[in-house]
Amino acid sequence: MNRFEGTKVLLTGGGSGIGRATALRLAAEGAALFAVDLSGEGLAETAAAASGPGRIATRVADVADEAAVVAAVRAAADELGGLDVLVNVAGIHRTTPIDRLTVADLHHLFTVNAVGTALFCREALPLLPDRTGVVVNVASSAAAHGNPYMTAYAASKGAVLGFSLSLAAEVAHRGIRVVPVSPGSVATPLAGPHVLPPDLDVSYYGRIRSPFGAAEPEQIAGVIAFAASRDAGYLTGAELRVDGGSHI
Ligand SMILES: NC(=O)c1ccc[n+]([C@@H]2O[C@H](COP(=O)([O-])OP(=O)(O)OC[C@H]3O[C@@H](n4cnc5c(N)ncnc54)[C@H](O)[C@@H]3O)[C@@H](O)[C@H]2O)c1
Repeated sequence: MNRFEGTKVLLTGGGSGIGRATALRLAAEGAALFAVDLSGEGLAETAAAASGPGRIATRVADVADEAAVVAAVRAAADELGGLDVLVNVAGIHRTTPIDRLTVADLHHLFTVNAVGTALFCREALPLLPDRTGVVVNVASSAAAHGNPYMTAYAASKGAVLGFSLSLAAEVAHRGIRVVPVSPGSVATPLAGPHVLPPDLDVSYYGRIRSPFGAAEPEQIAGVIAFAASRDAGYLTGAELRVDGGSHI
C-alpha cells in the first residue's frame, strides 16, 4: 500500500518506540516525514531504518519549549514544502504514589505531554490543508481507566484526550480531522519495569494487563496510520482505544 504517497507528515517522538514505528510505517507507505525528538541519536536510528518510497528528515527539539516548537513547525513546512498531517507522539511517563507526588512532577508531565501536543497543534493547524488535513494525538488508555500510581500521567493524558476532542469540534468546519489514539500497554522503553519504584506494590498492575499481553509499537503505528489515512476520512473527534481488551 502507498496510502501516503505525496503526503507531508510532521511527527513528534520519532526517536523511539511508537513514534519510530509510526515514522517507519508512514515512510514505508510513501510519506515524506519530518520527525522531531529530544534524542538526536534516536532520530538518527529511525532515519537509518527507513525503507520504502518515503523519506525521513529529522530535527532535535524539545516539544515543551514554545520557541523550539514554533521553529520546528516552520522548518518542517520548509523542508517538506508544506504539511498535510501532524502526529503528536512524544511523551513521558512517571510512576509515583500520591503521597510522593510533587508540583515539579505535575508540571513536567503536563508540559511535555499536554502543552507540547497543544503547541504543535496550534502552530501546524494554519498550515494544514482544508478538507484533507489530519491531526493524530497519542493519548493513553490511562486517561479513561484508573491505574495505580499513574495519577499525574493519567491526568496529563486526559488533558490530551479532552484537548483533541474539542479541537476536532473547532476545526471541523475546515474539514480537518482530529483523532486521539489511546494505547494500552506497549512494549517500549517508556513502559519498562524500571519506571516502578522498587517498594511499590507491583501486583496492582495485574488488573490493567491485556489478555493479549503488551502491544508491539508497530501495532499502535498501524492504527495511527489508519487514522491519518484517507481510509479514515469520516473519522474525527472519536478516540481510538488500542488496549488489547485490557478492560473487557
Ligand atoms: N508505551 C506505552 O505503554 C504507552 C501507553 C499509552 C500511551 N503511550 C504514549 O505513547 C507515546 C510514545 O511513547 P513510547 O511508549 O513510544 O515511549 P518512548 O519512550 O519509546 O518514546 C517517547 C519519545 O518521546 C521523546 N520525547 C520525550 N520527551 C520529549 C520532549 N520534551 N521533546 C521531544 N521529544 C520528547 C523521547 O525522546 C522518545 O523518543 C507517549 O506519548 C506515551 O505517553 C505509551
